[in-house]
Amino acid sequence: MDKVVSLTKRRGFMFQSSEIYGGLNGFWDYGPLGVELKRNVKECWWRDMVTSHDELATAAGAPMPYEMTGLDSTIIMHPQIWKCSGHYDLFHDFMVDCRESKKRYRHDQVSGRWVEARGQRFFVATQLGGTEGEEEAQQRALKFLNLRAKDAASLAWDGPLVSLTTVAEFSQVLGPDAKALGTLTPPREFNLMFKTYVGALSGEEGAAFLRPETAQGIFVNFKNVVDSSRVRIPFGIAQIGKSFRNEITPRNFTFRSREFEQMEIEFFCHPQSSPQWYQYWRDRRYRWYTDLGLAGERLRMREHHTDELSHYSCGTADIEYAFPFLPPGEFGELEGIAHRGDFDLRSHSEGKLVRQGNDLVVELGPDGKPRHPGSGRDLSYFDDFTRERFVPHVIEPSAGADRGTLAFLCEAYREDSVPDEKGEPRARVYLKFHPRLAPIKAAVFPLVKKDGMPEIAVDIYRALKPHFNVFYDEKGAVGRRYARQDEVGTPFCITIDSQTLADQTVTFRDRDTLKQWRVRVDDCVEEVRRRLTGN
Ligand code: GAP
Repeated sequence: MDKVVSLTKRRGFMFQSSEIYGGLNGFWDYGPLGVELKRNVKECWWRDMVTSHDELATAAGAPMPYEMTGLDSTIIMHPQIWKCSGHYDLFHDFMVDCRESKKRYRHDQVSGRWVEARGQRFFVATQLGGTEGEEEAQQRALKFLNLRAKDAASLAWDGPLVSLTTVAEFSQVLGPDAKALGTLTPPREFNLMFKTYVGALSGEEGAAFLRPETAQGIFVNFKNVVDSSRVRIPFGIAQIGKSFRNEITPRNFTFRSREFEQMEIEFFCHPQSSPQWYQYWRDRRYRWYTDLGLAGERLRMREHHTDELSHYSCGTADIEYAFPFLPPGEFGELEGIAHRGDFDLRSHSEGKLVRQGNDLVVELGPDGKPRHPGSGRDLSYFDDFTRERFVPHVIEPSAGADRGTLAFLCEAYREDSVPDEKGEPRARVYLKFHPRLAPIKAAVFPLVKKDGMPEIAVDIYRALKPHFNVFYDEKGAVGRRYARQDEVGTPFCITIDSQTLADQTVTFRDRDTLKQWRVRVDDCVEEVRRRLTGN
């Protein structure tokens, strides 16, 4: 992971936000190449899910044809939306503070081990997992007891690393950054929504939230979309946009940040066919990642156990990736696909719902009225073919654009050895991006800065530029120029050489195979197009 992080910084993929002021934890900026990569991820998603979807045909694995449409809703919405959705009451994590180090931790992200030595039994907490966590626990226990490494055998460990959530009382806990026992506060609830104030009212009257997900903007526009377009159920509404969560411990680069982008679909269907649609979307979304190059053992689909399901969900699966910053065998979530039933549309109509046995009922306050009243608008759907009125069920594939971008970057990172100009092996770092994701699609080089080669190269560059993001470079040895393009994942390099002057052909070079072939100058645009699209 360190190598990926250093490459992304060195070549301008990502920077820490506000870096010159010391940075702001949990916020990341995308540099010149990163912005292209992330835009390509979002554009592939939008194109594959929305604009190129064929609503006349039945997609492989789908129960029937369906329509897709898009939306762009606001980040700040009516505060009642978050009350009815459950975010106001339920969207929190538990945190613990350390009175000594003044650090704050997410309760469920701290683990540790019980140890007995020198007549005392205490819990050594760490934020690391696996063998790294065990090693850190050992070093800290030795330091706490003023022992040396050679005394490690005198520590009697009681069981493996376990979560801090298994520890009832913290007086015997050595916090992750503390020198004394008992410095952690009891866990406290912490709502993850960022609060802000709308207009000149600074009191609770003007209070609003930055959205923690884009999904609610879709639910509250369901009726607008149905009434204003000709979509019929089954159909999906897609949205890409920023979401904000005041994560207690943002970490692992962009994986858990406080400002991030989501790519969400809310798919509305008849309750009876919803289990088949859930299956369809799980498979369709998994295939999207494999089609773009996330394949093999590092990608998996994990169905949630019933006790893990959200309060509204009848089924959820996560698409997960084995990010290199995780301990071996651990996976991180890229996307969740949830069967949400009719929870959301009913909540925004009737008021916040709670589960009572098998039913969802409106939660009542002490006065017997809905605790968080809904809009009162009828969000049911009338099917004028079957003459049936029903509240649609929702399948929600919810992906993170930043996590997807990070996974594509990690997967693309490769090291190998290639012959240099003298045929000697030279270590190479390259990014094996799918051509659709590559920030730069082709680079154009004149072999030397004379004999009319730069002029031909500039003409080719200008012919390509209206169609693709291409790069022109005439500086330095051609081997160095190839290496710089490999390092940022450019699939093709086009070199204008002495043969070009004789027969009007150029050299194309493939990033992955290093194969070279000749193409007529006039055919360059078509050749790049054909190679990028695979047709
Ligand atoms: N509407 C459902 C929803 O928001 P979620 O699992 O909380 O579900 C969906 O979020 C996706 O958003 C996640 O799979 C992840 O890719 C991304 N995501 C969530 N929190 C994130 C964070 N703090 N930083 C980066 N991405 C995040």
